[in-house]
Amino acid sequence: MVDKARRSAFVCQQCGHAAPRWLGQCPGCEAWNSLVEEALPDPRARGRAPSGAVPRPLAAVTATDSLRRATGLGELDRVLGGGLVQGSVVLVGGDPGIGKSTLALQACGALARQGLPVLYVAGEESPEQVRLRADRLGMTEAGVLIVPETGAEAVAALIESTRPAAVVVDSIQTLATAALGSAPGSVGQVRESAALLVSRCKASGVACFLIGHVTKEGTLAGPRVLEHLVDTVLYFEGDGAHALRVLRAVKNRFGSTNEVAVFEMAEDGLREVANPSAAFLAERPVDAPGSAVLATLEGSRPVLVEIQALVSRSGLAMPRRTAIGLDPGRVALLLAVLEKRMRMPFHDQDVFLNVAGGLRIDEPAADLAIVAAVASAARGRPLPADVVVWGEVGLTGEVRAVGRAESRVREAARQGFRRCLLPAGNARGLAAVDGTRAQGIAALDQLFEAAELA
Ligand code: TYD
Ligand code: MG
Repeated sequence: MVDKARRSAFVCQQCGHAAPRWLGQCPGCEAWNSLVEEALPDPRARGRAPSGAVPRPLAAVTATDSLRRATGLGELDRVLGGGLVQGSVVLVGGDPGIGKSTLALQACGALARQGLPVLYVAGEESPEQVRLRADRLGMTEAGVLIVPETGAEAVAALIESTRPAAVVVDSIQTLATAALGSAPGSVGQVRESAALLVSRCKASGVACFLIGHVTKEGTLAGPRVLEHLVDTVLYFEGDGAHALRVLRAVKNRFGSTNEVAVFEMAEDGLREVANPSAAFLAERPVDAPGSAVLATLEGSRPVLVEIQALVSRSGLAMPRRTAIGLDPGRVALLLAVLEKRMRMPFHDQDVFLNVAGGLRIDEPAADLAIVAAVASAARGRPLPADVVVWGEVGLTGEVRAVGRAESRVREAARQGFRRCLLPAGNARGLAAVDGTRAQGIAALDQLFEAAELA
């Protein structure tokens, strides 16, 4: 089937059928667009001697944390689980222009400041461009080596020869291996090049940052195809129009996932934000309808964010539903609950929702704040200014308990809010924390009562 002289084949990702050239439809399973170029194993490598690994008792294996070193960027270290593990590969994904290169370069600078050599592989920008950015960041360290290189084998060889403490590959989409004929950035190239670097970094104990753009479609040839290959996946998020950036761990073999760091993009690079709640609420309008303050959990810590809603009469047969930073399916469900349980009609209304500051929220605890913001917008009445809201809303309009109630109330108190509207199930035995009152809400009608929307 496959030409023996060739070193690659196009393999269906669904059924494994191998074809000598690219086809739109797999002859094996008839799936469309499922063929990806893959390197074929070298026939000479067949029957190669085993690696020589010997089984030993698991109890005799010692796990040390000494292989972990702080990069020096505190927030990055926290998201990594306490520092960068030697020989680990970290994928940093995000939209173009969000600040991935800046973050990587700052991490290089911080490592170099500790006297550790680092290698920056620039595939997208010239060394001169990177130097301009380094100047802007005020980086004067001598320990950062830079090389413009896009060959995966060449980068692997450079890792061997320079033996840095860490290597940054910016970006993985620019790399190509000679084993494949397809263009850089294709699924096959991205995966094969990354696999080569991962094995090289593991073997030589060099920590590696792979930078990857998320394509507009979200998946194709993007970092997603790499997630299972690497140890840690960090996503850098934010709204390009705002300065706030959130770095999130979605996979971490060496630490907890869902740990989050907040940065602010300034003139001289990324700055760590010590008080994210204050930053996310900085531009909150007072006494405006459609604005609700939510206490959400970002990883292990509570953060206050503003949920904004706009409800306006629609001229369309299918009214608009736009939710930025929230799950649109969840929003549709909550609108249906409001319509059914609270008799608020939305069938002829456009509804827009936004999480101020560009944060993305997946937590069901956002439900009650979404409902409060929408109801406040629809009624044209602002919510009381000193109130923070959270809780999961069920289909019958009941409000369900969520985790970490006390720490959310504490964060509300720390930011100067006097009252929390939270699930009744959480409020039991929690009358007040640090002078902030915790008021239990069992159902939507109680929310309307407490938030003066009835
Ligand atoms: P960049 O790190 O190049 O993004 P990415 O690698 O994710 O594509 O940064 C992009 C933006 O950040 C760019 O529009 C300029 C801005 N920026 C600052 O505002 N301050 C700075 O100090 C730097 C280096 C960049
Ligand atoms: Mg970049």
